[in-house]
Amino acid sequence: MSQVEMSRLGPGGTREHFDEIQRVYAVVFPGYDLEDHRRRTLRQTESAGFEAVTVRENGVLVGFAYGLPLSARSTWWDGLRPSPPDGFAVETGRRTFAVIGLAVLPSHRGRGLGRRLMDELLSSRPEERATLATVPDNQEAQRMYERWGWKPTGQTPGVEGETADAFDLYVTALRPEVASSSR
Ligand SMILES: CC(C)(COP(=O)(O)OP(=O)(O)OC[C@H]1O[C@@H](n2cnc3c(N)ncnc32)[C@H](O)[C@@H]1OP(=O)(O)O)[C@@H](O)C(=O)NCCC(=O)NCCS
Repeated sequence: MSQVEMSRLGPGGTREHFDEIQRVYAVVFPGYDLEDHRRRTLRQTESAGFEAVTVRENGVLVGFAYGLPLSARSTWWDGLRPSPPDGFAVETGRRTFAVIGLAVLPSHRGRGLGRRLMDELLSSRPEERATLATVPDNQEAQRMYERWGWKPTGQTPGVEGETADAFDLYVTALRPEVASSSR
């Protein structure tokens, strides 16, 4: 019988297990630049509040999710169309948790691991809302996020050096009492 284990990792734990995380990344996102992913992710682990969750089956890492709070100087919402209401894009470093990565090996999909990774990652966040970005042609993921309660929030242009030309952004409330003020 297989044994499934979820682990929550801080920055140090993420760096320690990064090679295993990247083995999954390389399978799930073939063609993406692994050196660029390593550089970006290791830089992200240096941001306050960075957190990751991994799932292992029989000790082998088969999926991960990670993210970090948007800083007060974040450019995450820059160029968002349609334009958001006043105040929507204001960040404080404590307002919004951005989910940067979510992946499960193809051989392990459809068993609820992706949902569990996301739920575990967001379950104890102190921020009022979470956001994530998808590439516009990943409609399967977009439909999944909408079924999970995420709301489409508009599109931003990918800037030089980003992994795509445009991103569709999604938002979900993490605490029900602030849901109505999030958009
Ligand atoms: C997105 C991803 C992490 C989901 O992982 P997973 O372990 O299959 O997730 P779950 O088993 O929790 O299933 C997620 C949803 O996909 C659906 N699903 C799973 N396998 C499916 C399949 N073969 N065909 C259609 N839908 C499927 C499930 O019904 C579920 O929807 P629900 O929660 O509304 O019922 C995984 O598909 C993946 O790594 N995809 C490639 C990377 C990616 O797109 N990441 C997100 C980028 S923003």
